[in-house]
Amino acid sequence: MGGSAAHGELVALGAVKGLILSGGKGTRLRPITHTGAKQLVPIANKPVLFYGLEALVEAGIEEVGIVVGDTAEEIRKAVGDGSRFGATVEYIPQDQPLGLAHAVKISRSFLGDSPFVMYLGDNFITGGISAVVEQFIEEGPEVLILLKQMPDPQRFGVAELEGGRVIRLEEKPVHPRSDLVLVGVYCFQPSIFEAVEAIAPSARGELEITDAIQWQIDRGRQVTPHVVAGRWIDTGKMDDLLECNRVVLDLLPETRLGTASDDSRLLGKVILQEGSEIINSTVRGPVIVGANTRVVNSFVGPFTALYHDVLVESSEIEHSIVLEHTVIRGASKIEDSLIGRDVVIEKSDTRPRAHKMMLGDHSRVSLA
Ligand code: G1P
Repeated sequence: MGGSAAHGELVALGAVKGLILSGGKGTRLRPITHTGAKQLVPIANKPVLFYGLEALVEAGIEEVGIVVGDTAEEIRKAVGDGSRFGATVEYIPQDQPLGLAHAVKISRSFLGDSPFVMYLGDNFITGGISAVVEQFIEEGPEVLILLKQMPDPQRFGVAELEGGRVIRLEEKPVHPRSDLVLVGVYCFQPSIFEAVEAIAPSARGELEITDAIQWQIDRGRQVTPHVVAGRWIDTGKMDDLLECNRVVLDLLPETRLGTASDDSRLLGKVILQEGSEIINSTVRGPVIVGANTRVVNSFVGPFTALYHDVLVESSEIEHSIVLEHTVIRGASKIEDSLIGRDVVIEKSDTRPRAHKMMLGDHSRVSLA
């Protein structure tokens, strides 16, 4: 490894810290985010945030700071002190969502002089980040950014490369100069603090990390690109959540900790978590049925995740995510849906025969 090994020794793996951003309002996921953090929405029955935390630990990063906002209590309750993940977790409160660079700014005392990996808590990547962290340690650039080709780059930060170097970054440009977008995982040296102090808020009133990295590029500092080989999904919208659920269900191994009655048919990969019960039903995988969830006289179709303590009775559901303690009874047929906690959907026989609803603010209903 020559010179890079010497550098690698200087920046020992244990010295790299993790910073997960878990604030933000999640407005694009209302009404789910009226009552819960977007980073805790389950993907194949595991909060999306946990995948990121596990990826950091797998890459050898054990000291992790989580920046939290309005949903701080819920995040703390779910993650705890991090020991369950093999990490020590410290919480860093962000009073207002003033941008990703602001989150870095307020994390300075936690991060100290350590290089660090910043991970956006609602981002999902297949294949982990171990190779990325290794490259960062070996090559020691000022910044290492992850990029992915996307068909709709204007929704993201966009990078322009020249001869393998990053020469320009733009946040959500109307006319993107490339289709390479910034994935929400970044590796920084402590020099990033100088940059986040120097920049001004953007048009949307936030301190953009994109601008802070551009500030470094403008000063000739090395910003190295790493194009992600696997899948990357920013789960900020419902369609992306359903897609992420699809991707993870495809990857998971089959486990059967629950039970299925003899008159049930389980086809393809069906994951039954502890205490789940399938009674007189057909389940066509890939599907995950959460702990103590019951499926009775029903059809559950591919790419569905029923979280824990759910009841699906005399219903058909496919390509959907259902959160805990929800009851679905007599519904035919639910598809492409994200259904929150403690929801009741049931067929009613009372006259007039009509759709009768009590929906929270910002709910979305599509009637057949
Ligand atoms: C943020 C970054 C953007 C990046 C995206 C990835 O956008 O500002 O550059 O491409 O995360 O998820 P936001 O989700 O804050 O709009």
